Amino acid sequence: MIGSANGARIGITGLGVFAPDRVVTNDDLARYVDTTDEWIVERTGIRERRMVDDGEALTDIALPAARAALDDAGVGPEEIDLLISATVTPDMMFPTSSALMADALGATDAAAYDLLAGCTGFMYAVAQAYGMLASGISRRALVVGGDVLSSILDWHDRSTLVLFGDGAGAVVMEPVSHGGFLGFELGADGGGGEHLQLPGSGSRKFEHPESMLKMNGREVFKFATRVLVSSAEALLAECGKTIDEVDVYVPHQANKRIIDHAVGKLGVPHERTVVNVDRFGNTSSGSIPLALADARAEGRLHDGALVLMTGMGAGLTWGSALLEWTNRGHG
Ligand code: ACO
Repeated sequence: MIGSANGARIGITGLGVFAPDRVVTNDDLARYVDTTDEWIVERTGIRERRMVDDGEALTDIALPAARAALDDAGVGPEEIDLLISATVTPDMMFPTSSALMADALGATDAAAYDLLAGCTGFMYAVAQAYGMLASGISRRALVVGGDVLSSILDWHDRSTLVLFGDGAGAVVMEPVSHGGFLGFELGADGGGGEHLQLPGSGSRKFEHPESMLKMNGREVFKFATRVLVSSAEALLAECGKTIDEVDVYVPHQANKRIIDHAVGKLGVPHERTVVNVDRFGNTSSGSIPLALADARAEGRLHDGALVLMTGMGAGLTWGSALLEWTNRGHG
């Protein structure tokens, strides 16, 4: 699916993120599996990640992010009429994490639902919120992306354990006076779904149910490098923009080698690319908002900055958005 904005100016007016305090280094993981800091840094660029404490779940990290986004936008929870939570690790299947968060925040007027699109969840959720806002059905949306992947990792599998971390981010989306989203490109290939799965986590029964993440790293690597480039190029063409016009490139933070490959193929200068996978690992739906927050902290999200974001992950799914950043542009 690809589409450019139809004239409605819908932007991000608030951004908040949260990562657990507990830092887990590569050396810490080497106590559980046969690996080394050197191998992990060379193959992935990851040096450390954050993980929740025992007993903590998604809403414990997503709520602080959501509150920070509301504060940043200067809006109260009762002014939110749509809350989408993109995650593959909700506290439980139901009640949904979005309904729990709407209640905890006091967003009593909000429609709330969870969205499952793997690591691409945040991009899908932003696109859906855009549609609801552009059509006038919703007036102000809170989009939360976050995951507690540490809860579904196999602590005996070195090929997956070292890649992931926990984290969350949230954005407030609403009409803006200038800038805003220019378009989206989203896709899915269930044919490759077997390469990244959580068998036994749904209604299909397995003889030997698994509750831990399974991944074919090489296949996912090939998929990720391909779609990061194809999705971004298709969206830029659709919106009549070129890669040279992109001020801030925010790829999903899965692996530094995947990002480097995309940067090379797309021809984006490294200084315009946001990379924080070294500090957070792959936080799934938390990845892109966490990276956006880093870009802002570094002063890179100036008014009018052209921001290109691309996520990809389980499904297999991918999604890109192109956005002209708006500072204090409430419409
Ligand atoms: N430490 C040491 N050795 C390891 C580790 C580890 N943590 N993990 C795997 N190895 C070993 C393997 O067992 C293998 O050993 P063998 O040759 O004796 O069998 C060897 O390293 C090479 O394994 P490969 O899988 O070929 O290593 P590769 O260079 O492909 O790197 C990696 C593996 C990092 C998983 C890579 O394939 C990758 O990044 N894939 C993408 C996965 C990803 O980012 N997924 C994120 C989820 S989806 C998404 O967000 C897009």
